[in-house]
Amino acid sequence: MPSESREFDIVLLGATGFTGGLIADYLATNATSAVSIALAGRNPAKLEAVRARSGADLDVVTVDATDDAALRDLTSRCRVLITTVGPYLVHGDPVVAACADTGTDYLDLTGEPEFADLTYLKHHARAEATGARLIHACGFDSVPHDLGAQFTVDQLPEGVPLTVRGYVRLQGTFSGGTVASALEVMSRMRQGRATHDIRTQVEPQPDGRAVSIATGRVGRDASTGWWVIPMPTIDPLIVAQSARQLPRYGPDFTYSHFLATEGPLAAAATLGGIGTLAAVAQVAPARRALARLRPSGSGPTPAQRDKAWFTVRFVGEGGGTSVVTEVAGGDPGYTETSAMISEAALCLAVDDLPVTAGQVTTASALGPALRTRLLAAGISFTLVD
Ligand SMILES: NC(=O)c1ccc[n+]([C@@H]2O[C@H](COP(=O)([O-])OP(=O)(O)OC[C@H]3O[C@@H](n4cnc5c(N)ncnc54)[C@H](OP(=O)(O)O)[C@@H]3O)[C@@H](O)[C@H]2O)c1
Repeated sequence: MPSESREFDIVLLGATGFTGGLIADYLATNATSAVSIALAGRNPAKLEAVRARSGADLDVVTVDATDDAALRDLTSRCRVLITTVGPYLVHGDPVVAACADTGTDYLDLTGEPEFADLTYLKHHARAEATGARLIHACGFDSVPHDLGAQFTVDQLPEGVPLTVRGYVRLQGTFSGGTVASALEVMSRMRQGRATHDIRTQVEPQPDGRAVSIATGRVGRDASTGWWVIPMPTIDPLIVAQSARQLPRYGPDFTYSHFLATEGPLAAAATLGGIGTLAAVAQVAPARRALARLRPSGSGPTPAQRDKAWFTVRFVGEGGGTSVVTEVAGGDPGYTETSAMISEAALCLAVDDLPVTAGQVTTASALGPALRTRLLAAGISFTLVD
């Protein structure tokens, strides 16, 4: 069935999870009645509870993410599918496959680079053929970084080599699904690197243009004065993918991505914490014990989320010009993440967008239209200097 005449504009799969519940509430409050929305998941009683709490006229569909036929039926009934069923390396592939096959736009919250590389290798060509837009990392990973880098590039001259550095500062805590997904990534670093190498060999590079990620080093950063740690998360990979897909990033684009800390002691403590987590993730029983401390469905309380915040400062240089920009908002992981992915879904369902298909990014597929929506939702994009 052509995508325009499908039963639902947006389906939210994983509506019964911690983040899924927040997304359901956001869509119930912010989507107009012209947008038809369904909540999907494997547990009808939990789905009904989410629908009742939302107070909105939402449909409910029962589907298990391990059932390929049921997933194809679901994705052929909707134009845009959001999934929060993670860890994505464990549960995600059949959902992407169903969207690619049925020409359905797909959005997720993955921060798992190996998952994005695997879906590129397995489903990008099929999605290009059916017209499906497959967009990973539509939450705090990686919307502020991806759209912030694009906003920074927009302030710089065209047609010259550009360098952009992103510096993240934040305060917040994690949900059960985030902890489980982070441990999954850390337990598979070697496989993740191998998959990325295969992708790098087969993915076409843009004609006559170069895009690279400069890792940087731990220490005091000369341009900001902050103590920084290079962050090899999914964020720089997404920014680089946008740069490959958008000629506006110029003939030679380089991106670096850092966590900014309060000083040398905080930097050392953060590095120690990451190292400990990575070591624990290598041992299956220890990994399971750690995951049990934050079970599926749990996450920060409203009071904790009210105190949480983020800023991402960008320093962009090129063609003799230098700019500083900043993206800022409230609780990065959950309150703002649910706004980001909901607005991305509404953007796909409602807005006039450039024609794209296959594995694309928030910047390359949604760009300024999503930035406008996020500004209206209270996330700021500022030219600082
Ligand atoms: N990168 C970011 O910025 C960001 C921010 C927030 C979250 N996330 C990611 O989003 C994901 C979800 O996090 P969360 O804390 O919301 O997790 P969660 O509370 O554990 O929710 C997981 C959801 O998946 C559902 N599910 C699991 N297996 C299923 C299956 N076989 N069929 C159908 N549904 C199934 C669960 O359903 P039941 O209720 O029936 O168990 C639940 O609705 C994680 O991967 C996390 O890393 C990323």
